Amino acid sequence: MLYVKNLHKSYRTGNKSYPVLKGVDFTVAQQEFVAVMGPSGSGKSTLLNCISCYIPFDEGTITLAGQELKGLSEDALAKIRNEKLGFVFQDFMLLDGLTVRENILVPRIIQGKVEKDAEILSSRLLSLFGIEHIADKYPAEISGGERQRTAVARSLINQPLMILADEPTGNLDSKSSRAVIDAFENARQNLNATVFMVTHDSYAASFCDRVILLKDGTVYNTLEKQGQSQNTPEGHSNSPENRSRFQERLLEEIKKMGAE
Ligand SMILES: Nc1ncnc2c1ncn2[C@@H]1O[C@H](COP(=O)(O)OP(=O)(O)OP(=O)(O)O)[C@@H](O)[C@H]1O
Ligand SMILES: [Mg+2]
Repeated sequence: MLYVKNLHKSYRTGNKSYPVLKGVDFTVAQQEFVAVMGPSGSGKSTLLNCISCYIPFDEGTITLAGQELKGLSEDALAKIRNEKLGFVFQDFMLLDGLTVRENILVPRIIQGKVEKDAEILSSRLLSLFGIEHIADKYPAEISGGERQRTAVARSLINQPLMILADEPTGNLDSKSSRAVIDAFENARQNLNATVFMVTHDSYAASFCDRVILLKDGTVYNTLEKQGQSQNTPEGHSNSPENRSRFQERLLEEIKKMGAE
């Protein structure tokens, strides 16, 4: 689904070049739920923005659903962004003047394609995320958790291959964080979505299949949740015990990473 190979990215300020990504390698499989963690300044958002086609990178390759991003025109990149990717931002960026249903349709409105299928899918998403009763309300009239679920629903309206999220649970209480994670889980199971999430939150990350730890612009380590089985009733192992074990392993590894 996603291949990132030997990715390098520097920012230039004046004559100086500051390397941020220094040879990042990883892959994400379809329907995987992957988190990226790492210290502030390690390059997580930069990595996400390269994959999102928002900023150009210097060296290496990013291949998304068989298509290599390097060398594509602005138009081609915009098309990938609109058609293949869904975004969830930290502050959700809902439009105040639009209702919940209209907000969910925004990516389609941008494409100028609000046809019958979009109406049907928006209704399905409203019901999938338990927000149909607030479909005609405005963002200011709904709760934080409902706003998050609206943002996740919006990221899915174009049936993207992959959802990219940058700290979607930042500044949220644990109940609201759980609402976002559940929404991602739901999208994965019911809509075959792949989720790639940058987070500082080890609780949120403990729901993922795999966590990539980024340090100083390279992959420090990758941790995989044990007990994965596609045959369990939930489709994967997210029992509270298994999750808290994974969270402990994550915290230990992050501590180790910080000490080195
Ligand atoms: N547009 C830019 N121009 C110059 N330098 C930048 C730019 N964006 C980010 N940087 C620098 O690149 C480094 C990595 O930034 P990035 O935002 O990717 O980190 P991050 O891992 O997402 O951090 P955080 O956890 O704080 O969000 C930082 O040192 C930052 O100051
Ligand atoms: Mg960041």
